[in-house]
Amino acid sequence: MAANLDLITSPTIPPHLVAKADQSTTSSALTRARLIPGELRASLSAHGLEEILSFFSTIVAAHVPIILSALSEIAVADLTSLHKSQNFNFRLCDYTSVTAAPLSDNGCGAHTDYGTFSIIFQDGHAGLEAEDEATPGRWIALPGDATIVLCGWCALILSGGRVRAARHRVRHMAGVRRLSAVLFVAPDVDVVLKPLKSDEGSKAFSEKITSGDVNVGWFKEVMGKRWRWREGNEMLGDGESNEIGQDEDVERLVGG
Ligand SMILES: [Fe+2]
Repeated sequence: MAANLDLITSPTIPPHLVAKADQSTTSSALTRARLIPGELRASLSAHGLEEILSFFSTIVAAHVPIILSALSEIAVADLTSLHKSQNFNFRLCDYTSVTAAPLSDNGCGAHTDYGTFSIIFQDGHAGLEAEDEATPGRWIALPGDATIVLCGWCALILSGGRVRAARHRVRHMAGVRRLSAVLFVAPDVDVVLKPLKSDEGSKAFSEKITSGDVNVGWFKEVMGKRWRWREGNEMLGDGESNEIGQDEDVERLVGG
């Protein structure tokens, strides 16, 4: 059963919550939210912070366990027990037409998320696309009013390839402001990133992966660094190529 892409029927996030994000991207998580200083929290509360945290915490409690259970069946291994510490992230995305290059059709470049899965709540506007795994380079437009679950690299590796990671991108639609809220779910940072079952699975992995050299925390750091470089916030070190795409980079690391 292909598990790279699934649709669930949750309602879309109330648009007024996402619209109150005043930067292109705002990330948080329940645990870190408690560390927000009181004065700042009071200021952000006036812009819907408590409602946003409440929205995400409801999703974490009500939907994440069900999705982990379903993915465990596909993986033929228990993924739930690897997600005890809530290594999750929340993100509000504002794909604004104001700052985008008018002639560019790129809102967010093609990539695969690093974690187990991501839930994408949309505001009704189209733009999110997933790559057809059977025909690389062919992009499938996803409905703007659907809530989307996309699996990432950690799910693919832990499941031995039984759960497929979905490459996706966001198109910039001229004149359209698209808002979304995303919950990123990843395994605990100390989880060793190797196939849980010792059988062959459906994908060959590198020696680095099969020997258990990589854990989720290390992988998260590597992926985050490349993301920060793409966003212009961090330089890569000597020998780290910026000429190849993130997915090719990761495939080189994990693939056999
Ligand atoms: Fe993504």
